[in-house]
Amino acid sequence: MTETVLLGQILRFTGDPFKGDPVDATRIESAGAVVIDHGKIVQTGPAADMQAQYPNATVINHGDDLLLAGFVDAHVHYPQTRIIASWGKRLIDWLNSYTFPEEIRLADPAYARAIASDYLDLALAHGTTTVCSFCTSAPTSVTAFFEAAASRNMAVVAGKTCMDRNAPDALTDTPQRAYDESKTLLDRWHGAGRARYAITPRFSPTSSREQLEALGALWAERPECLMQTHLSEQVDEVAWVRTLFPQAHDYLDTYEHAGLLGQRGLYGHAIHLAPREIDRLSEVGAALVHCPTSNTFIGSGLFEMAKLKARHISVGLATDTGGGSSFSMLRTMAAAYEIGQLCGTPLHAAQLLYLATEGSARALHMHHDVGTLAEGSAADICVLDLRSTPAISQRAHRAQGFWDAVFPTLMMGDDRAVRQVYIAGRAVL
Ligand code: GUN
Ligand code: ZN
Repeated sequence: MTETVLLGQILRFTGDPFKGDPVDATRIESAGAVVIDHGKIVQTGPAADMQAQYPNATVINHGDDLLLAGFVDAHVHYPQTRIIASWGKRLIDWLNSYTFPEEIRLADPAYARAIASDYLDLALAHGTTTVCSFCTSAPTSVTAFFEAAASRNMAVVAGKTCMDRNAPDALTDTPQRAYDESKTLLDRWHGAGRARYAITPRFSPTSSREQLEALGALWAERPECLMQTHLSEQVDEVAWVRTLFPQAHDYLDTYEHAGLLGQRGLYGHAIHLAPREIDRLSEVGAALVHCPTSNTFIGSGLFEMAKLKARHISVGLATDTGGGSSFSMLRTMAAAYEIGQLCGTPLHAAQLLYLATEGSARALHMHHDVGTLAEGSAADICVLDLRSTPAISQRAHRAQGFWDAVFPTLMMGDDRAVRQVYIAGRAVL
């Protein structure tokens, strides 16, 4: 099999743009090439050099479109695809009014398969090549998702969402069932092809202490897995956790006490954190996931990126479909920028793109395979048209340099900007 060479503008990260000048952590090749062989990236560099080194390669010319790693969405709920953009509720009412009734419907395996398929096609159309998803409490919803991802050869993380209280009977399990079903799914899917498993207690309000402990015990037996949950999203939720766990220091302690705080832990939202919680997250090396469109849509609050990055906490970026109001990581970067402005610390385009690719991949501990254009990574690539609409085009026309040309697409772009997506070197759009 001969190599494939993709030509275009290439953006890579050579470091962390949250340390020092963001631009110094990037490498831009304005007439660049990505060389792909057997689904992996072999090399990137100037187009002329790459074409000289690989004279027999198949060449696909993307002109001056931007080639970068496919987006990595670090926190989604695929079962909420049909209820995205549901009006007027805050978190707990939103869960009870929209989310739980829809999640019950996914107990039907045929329905779960249809939603998983629609969701992953939407993600790909928006340039997202890897996602980390909550499923429902029905094991068949997990199977449906992993099968749909495998048929698209996508690297994904997912897990059965465990709940044993404060949710409809049709969605609740028990500590033992949560443990048993999670373990069976984990043994079946973790490391099967490109799939990874995340042990998934929904959040402390819907799990008893016994259930959190059962899942903590499972994580101790299978420490190679990820663990995902929610943390301190809304003020009312934090107050509720205080009444449900009167003995805990704080919200994070409800997880830590059960063995659910660790380096491979992913904590979604993390807005209303006490200093002790930030200290512990930093000490342990856990990852937080910023869900900016969700945090404004459900009225949760402002994620303090600069403060948390200053503590060297790993942060991923996510749509939080369907609490978030978009499937697009471009829209999500725009919202992260706006929240940064409200906090007095606007993010640079390089920081936004890093969060949406390598930052999320690092949070998921998958950066050796996805989220970068490094040699040896899977060729999961997103190709962006930087003039995808008249509004963006007229602004990009005026741009002074690379970052000024990219920024309008980050702020105003959507799936129309996604010209092509490659999964392991195969074009999928
Ligand atoms: N907290 C617990 N469950 C959920 C959920 O499904 N979405 C969001 N945004 N927050 C949650
Ligand atoms: Zn969530």
